[in-house]
Amino acid sequence: MSQDGSHTIISDRFGVSYHSKFGSIQETQTVFIDAGLDYIVSRGYRDINILEMGFGTGLNAIMTYQSIKGININYHTLEAYPIVKSQYSELNYPTVLALSEKQTADFFKMHTAKSEEKISLSEYFNFTKYIVKIEDFETTEKFDIIYYDAFAPTSQEELWTPELMAKLYDMCNPGAVIVTYCAKGSFKRALRSAGFTVEALDGPEGKREMTRGKVL
Ligand SMILES: C[S@@+](CC[C@H](N)C(=O)[O-])C[C@H]1O[C@@H](n2cnc3c(N)ncnc32)[C@H](O)[C@@H]1O
Repeated sequence: MSQDGSHTIISDRFGVSYHSKFGSIQETQTVFIDAGLDYIVSRGYRDINILEMGFGTGLNAIMTYQSIKGININYHTLEAYPIVKSQYSELNYPTVLALSEKQTADFFKMHTAKSEEKISLSEYFNFTKYIVKIEDFETTEKFDIIYYDAFAPTSQEELWTPELMAKLYDMCNPGAVIVTYCAKGSFKRALRSAGFTVEALDGPEGKREMTRGKVL
């Protein structure tokens, strides 16, 4: 349980928590919804292609699904090590997010979706999950927002490199943003070397800063 009452889980493989101990929901809201989705919507976008790194518990995906109004989203998410039913069925997100019955059913559909199968959860929201390592992910899609939700550099340094950021930069549309809770100096340099313009924003509770990279 994190401090806002929402569940998180601990990765056996990497020995870290999937979310901030100060609150999973408040972290997703500040980093991905406010600084990513709402920012892009405020710039006039109505058809938005999102790439998430790290589907994990599905919290970012379901909160994005729950928060859309009057916009179309194609949500793509990458996950190398999917959690299993005994884990996702215990998460308290349907209760703490007050999901409707349909939203709850759709949350479980996200978890059971087959790799690369595009599913339409509503007229406004398509969802595609790729069971793949980001290092091996190839696509012809171009994205407007990247939710970069990898485990921290202290656990997975290889996911915060200039090479990987350059690969992601090439997957972006002009005007796109990449958002993440990470504010490490070497990561911000990696973003800059890939071509992103870097902004330091106020972080979620318990973190002074977060990062948004922009494609001009
Ligand atoms: C911080 S958690 C993601 C939390 C998630 N966004 C959520 O809402 O619960 C990081 C995720 O990245 C996944 N992961 C680790 N290495 C990966 C890799 N090389 N490629 C793709 N996913 C990876 C982990 O299995 C984990 O689910």
